[in-house]
Amino acid sequence: DTNSILILPGDGIGAEVMAEVVKVIDWFQDNRGMAFTVDHDLVGGAAYDAHGKPLSDETMAKAQAVDAVLLGAVGGPKYDDLDFSLKPERGLLRLRKEMDLYANLRPAQCFDALADFSSLKREVVAGLDILIVRELTSGIYFGQPRGIEDDTSEGNEGGRVGINTQRYTSGEIRRVARSAFELAKKRDNRVCSMEKANVMESGILWRQEVQWVHDNEYPDVELSHMYADNGAMQLVRNPRQFDVIVTDNLFGDILSDAAAMLTGSLGMLPSASLGAPMANGRPKALYEPVHGSAPDITGQGKANPIACILSFAMALRYSFDRGDAASELEAAVEKVLADGLRTADLTGPGGGDAISTSQMGDSIVAALSSA
Ligand code: NAI
Ligand code: MG
Repeated sequence: DTNSILILPGDGIGAEVMAEVVKVIDWFQDNRGMAFTVDHDLVGGAAYDAHGKPLSDETMAKAQAVDAVLLGAVGGPKYDDLDFSLKPERGLLRLRKEMDLYANLRPAQCFDALADFSSLKREVVAGLDILIVRELTSGIYFGQPRGIEDDTSEGNEGGRVGINTQRYTSGEIRRVARSAFELAKKRDNRVCSMEKANVMESGILWRQEVQWVHDNEYPDVELSHMYADNGAMQLVRNPRQFDVIVTDNLFGDILSDAAAMLTGSLGMLPSASLGAPMANGRPKALYEPVHGSAPDITGQGKANPIACILSFAMALRYSFDRGDAASELEAAVEKVLADGLRTADLTGPGGGDAISTSQMGDSIVAALSSA
């Protein structure tokens, strides 16, 4: 059983943090009998420099064929003046669009050693481990009609109207609901669906279709429903009540950013985007840290590789069906943090005693070996 990976380090610290992930992949290959085929290619500014496009057709075709794409980050000041269609971000957007990655996964995990970095009190977040699944390819960011038009109706000061449309088909809701239930089966087996069925028809349909998928396909997974505004409140009041949260594009955008603040540094946050199951049953998948290319610290060995390493842990769990290996890797990260090892982003003012990107990667590999 081989596991195919396409590594796209991208720009800036993308390449620096991805080098540490490669060490982790090698470790699992050498020590846990996992077979990986790993290919490397270019995306973003790096791809533009090489062949004048932020993602070549060849790279796109490779991404479609592998079990998991691991991406670092794209962008940088060097590319800020490029034409819109050539910008590094377009490479990432093309991957997401052509792979049809409709489920965006944002975990919020709080390692005990970093609980004081949270915006909330330690006793509310210590040990937190939740997963927000945001629908990514439909909803109000895409629905028609949209635009800014003249509106000369009486009493409208300014004379214009801005229009966006929330539109979800039952099929779009069912497929992201399936993703959420599949993920829950690999976690704590609980899904909470969030919408505003009290004031939105698309919310009523959302609730009905998620319930339908549950009743017909995943009756053994615990399902609850919550209005999204209450969900936002519960997320900061008692976030540990949740396991998997599934919600639409707009609410998911907001709720996942709020959840990110439960855990602290941008350098710690992984993500994944999943699409439809392929012929081998695995979902189309792209894993990437939430952070960008961080030009302000590029080339200084300061980048925290943990977000990218935890993104690979997600690949182990959700693409390669190795939850055991994912937990082992997360435990190694936890141990290194508990031992007090910190990259500069985790040391607070002054940044004293920070270790480098590669020292952090090496420490995590050493922790894997010593467990
Ligand atoms: P950023 O995430 O790159 O950096 C924000 C701040 O967090 C910076 O001070 C940076 O040094 C710090 N930071 C980020 N990741 C870190 C890590 N792993 N370890 C330690 N510190 C870290 O966001 P920014 O500055 O808004 O954007 C920089 C470039 O990245 C832009 O070109 C932007 O378009 C691009 N970008 C790319 C993304 C992607 O590839 N998915 C996402 C966000 C931004
Ligand atoms: Mg956002």
